[in-house]
Amino acid sequence: MAIRWTAPSVGAEISGVDLSRPLDAAARETIRHTLAERGVVFFHGQTLTPEQHIALARQFGEININRFFSHAEGHPEIALVVKEPHQTKNIGGGWHTDHSYDRVPAMGSMLYARETPPTGGDTLFASMYAAYDALSDGLKRTLAGLRAVHSSRHVFGVKREGMEDRFHNQDLATQDAVHPVVITHPDSGRKALYVNPGFTLRFEGWTDEESRSLLSYLYQHAVRPEFAYRFAWQSGSLAFWDNRATWHYAVNDYHGERRLMHRITLEGVPLAA
Ligand code: SIN
Repeated sequence: MAIRWTAPSVGAEISGVDLSRPLDAAARETIRHTLAERGVVFFHGQTLTPEQHIALARQFGEININRFFSHAEGHPEIALVVKEPHQTKNIGGGWHTDHSYDRVPAMGSMLYARETPPTGGDTLFASMYAAYDALSDGLKRTLAGLRAVHSSRHVFGVKREGMEDRFHNQDLATQDAVHPVVITHPDSGRKALYVNPGFTLRFEGWTDEESRSLLSYLYQHAVRPEFAYRFAWQSGSLAFWDNRATWHYAVNDYHGERRLMHRITLEGVPLAA
């Protein structure tokens, strides 16, 4: 197995491993460790049936059955991240981290590219370790005492034009969650910024208006180019990201083409400061 950093702050490409077969303990540990440190790991040239994708994911934890996304037929474990040629909106087309609206947020996802457009359809990743590390000591001290409220209601709890056939169960988007604004990553022990533009509503005990300017500052800070990496997919690529260490953004620049991804999400643990 060989590991190459994709950018100074985030990501690593891992080669020399066939993900369709069970991993030995050393390979699993290398992937787990690299994921915790680099936030996202990438693999190319993989051939996975849905069953092999599920078996791969189970080697890293318990699968979260997504309550809002359409599923691959016969496989509720696999959420479809798809955009058809006639559709204009994509899934994940804004900076976010998945499942921060859950009280125990998902650890991460394995996204497997089945069909990719000839060009475009990249995914951006940003390191929330790097974003946190680059803050001043003063702002770090302020954030250390804060918690934030996250919700899925405004995203999955409303009917969104153009997404009717891809998102379901709006009535299940009832749960809000409160998490520390700066978490200690449960595996790496590193501090990471844990608010995101997709799902964070406000700081706990603050109004939306009071929260807005500090959240806006953190959001534009967190996506500085030096904290980010842009991943170009090929069919057969797999990205495995950690929601506690990164944000991601699916670029919607391939209208008229099909992009079909299979996503399996893994359960996480409660987050602590
Ligand atoms: C997602 O946000 O889970 C989708 C990412 C992508 O399609 O690249």
